[in-house]
Amino acid sequence: MTRNPTRRPKPRHPRRVVQTRRTPPAKPQRKTHVMRPAKHRTTPLALVTGGAGFIGSHLCDRLIADGFEVLCLDNFYTGSAANLQHFKHEPRFDLITHDVVEPYDARVARVYNLACPASPVHYQADPIKTYKTSILGALHALEVGRRHGARVFQASTSEVYGDPEQHPQQESYWGHVNPIGIRACYDEGKRGAETLFFDYARRHKTDIRVARIFNTYGPRMLPNDGRVVSNFIVQALADEPFTIYGDGSQTRSFCYVDDLIDGIMLLTSDAGIPGPVNLGNPSEFTMGELADKVLALTGSHSHRVFKALPSDDPTRRRPDISLAQQKLGWSPKVSLEEGLLRTIGYFRSVMSIA
Ligand SMILES: NC(=O)c1ccc[n+]([C@@H]2O[C@H](COP(=O)([O-])OP(=O)(O)OC[C@H]3O[C@@H](n4cnc5c(N)ncnc54)[C@H](O)[C@@H]3O)[C@@H](O)[C@H]2O)c1
Repeated sequence: MTRNPTRRPKPRHPRRVVQTRRTPPAKPQRKTHVMRPAKHRTTPLALVTGGAGFIGSHLCDRLIADGFEVLCLDNFYTGSAANLQHFKHEPRFDLITHDVVEPYDARVARVYNLACPASPVHYQADPIKTYKTSILGALHALEVGRRHGARVFQASTSEVYGDPEQHPQQESYWGHVNPIGIRACYDEGKRGAETLFFDYARRHKTDIRVARIFNTYGPRMLPNDGRVVSNFIVQALADEPFTIYGDGSQTRSFCYVDDLIDGIMLLTSDAGIPGPVNLGNPSEFTMGELADKVLALTGSHSHRVFKALPSDDPTRRRPDISLAQQKLGWSPKVSLEEGLLRTIGYFRSVMSIA
């Protein structure tokens, strides 16, 4: 575990304990640090794995705004220091460069486990590492929960439903996943992580919260990771051809990131439930409709090019969010137009800097 160079140079108070135990090679343990005894802490400490990523950085924002101290763990595979730049002078925020495949420990009140590449381009680049990240990342987060009685949140995914035969998908649906396909490293990794979460809850009474997140978009998405919203916006702003996979009739539902963070915070509040709970926007759009909206909102002159559908690409995806509505009082509020406008604004500023 190495300290990230973007951290504040001189902490104003002693730090919390974070240790790593490395399995072979049998080097002396690299123990880092800290120590801010829990009894002296007046604010709850939340650990966010994958906190430098798209959703993770928005979650860090909300936790800080809600009065938490935040410890962010990330290996910067798809995350970016720029997403956390605004915390440079925030005394309640700390950043550690660490790979969740390796064990870690920290005395915290909550663990939010988001570390995992989420776009096919990145999770298929090293599928074995993706699978290890999902399974071992979940295991190590749960161990922190078991040791310290922390509440542990898992960022699961609608991909656990695979190419669903039920529409819209309810949490009771067990899914339709190809276990040996090219998406399986992610889909089965997330399914295995859910298994671990529920076994820890049964065996160790760990306080777990599992969200099945559907397609989420917003500022801080990577411009080049192949996700459809960022792809379309970046191509539209550059007046490049729009890539549409298949004939554009496959559907997705798109949740704006602020809505998702509201759902995560409600799920992980004292009034939340273990889950799994679908969090997503139930409004469903074809890829063709999404392309039309992005073209209209950007005023772009891009034209469409059609390419073959990737293997195992689901044809329909829409969450049934009755459970989140009933148990958490949660529904998304941001319309697709509004969310796209905010995201287009972000990409305009990023692309004009680049
Ligand atoms: N964005 C979505 O639509 C969506 C949908 C369903 C589920 N999710 C889940 O939400 C989480 C966050 O997704 P995102 O869209 O913000 O993706 P992202 O790629 O922007 O963020 C993932 C973060 O995890 C970090 N990471 C990856 N492997 C790691 C490792 N081994 N150790 C430490 N850090 C590691 C990355 O550097 C990055 O900061 C993921 O677990 C993803 O599976 C996202």
